Amino acid sequence: MQHGSAPVAVALDAPDLECAARWAGLVTPHVSTVKIGLELYLRYGPDVVATVRGASGVRVFLDLKLLDIPATVAAAARAVARLRPDYLTVHASGGPGVIRAAVEAAPGTCVAAVTVLTSMGDGDLETLGIPGSVSDVVRRLSVMAVASGARGLVCSPREVAAVRAEVGPDITLITPGVRPAGSAVNDQARVATPEEAIRAGADLLVIGRPITGAADPGAAAATIAASLRRLRPSSLSRPLPAC
Ligand code: C5P
Repeated sequence: MQHGSAPVAVALDAPDLECAARWAGLVTPHVSTVKIGLELYLRYGPDVVATVRGASGVRVFLDLKLLDIPATVAAAARAVARLRPDYLTVHASGGPGVIRAAVEAAPGTCVAAVTVLTSMGDGDLETLGIPGSVSDVVRRLSVMAVASGARGLVCSPREVAAVRAEVGPDITLITPGVRPAGSAVNDQARVATPEEAIRAGADLLVIGRPITGAADPGAAAATIAASLRRLRPSSLSRPLPAC
């Protein structure tokens, strides 16, 4: 791992492996982590992890958002644990049995529970028949996930402070929905700037299109890293949070 690099996971939502590897090479001097999502993993399979990790030692976040019955999630988590991802996501909505299954099956990996997708707002929960506001549901799911063994949580920057108050300092809070001022929001609904997310207490910011859609992804990552360094210099000289 690169000490001194920014607490950012760049979402490599690339159309092909060559593009993902190129983006990874450009951003790894500046950020701690690269994130492989469903698009790349389903197209290229497990080999994609070694390809984007390369020789850089960058952390790998495998964002597969597992959701199935506990036995199936356990088998899936076991299958990917051998790739030694630093982070692996499961949907918190699977409940305690699913989260426990993933945690037990991937002991060397930070299992992070996805609370409510950052693309969803209060109206979406109502459509699904889920009572309460997004922030209430995120808090409820967070407490349940941590009680079930998750050491990481995924929520939007807007809920980070409330979640931190519920789960304490030792849980890694990961926030997608991060947009530097002036960036397009795209399909995200609950967004904040990188600086706001860190100030609210996020440990790791997931940022995709504002970096990968830039003319120079390396320069975009460097700019965000510099803004975080100005904000919290000490955070970049200590080891980044591990679960
Ligand atoms: O391009 P953008 O910055 O919106 O990318 C966000 C990334 O974070 C995507 O890869 C998406 O799958 C992921 N993600 C998310 N919301 C969650 C969990 C993961 O946007 N709740």
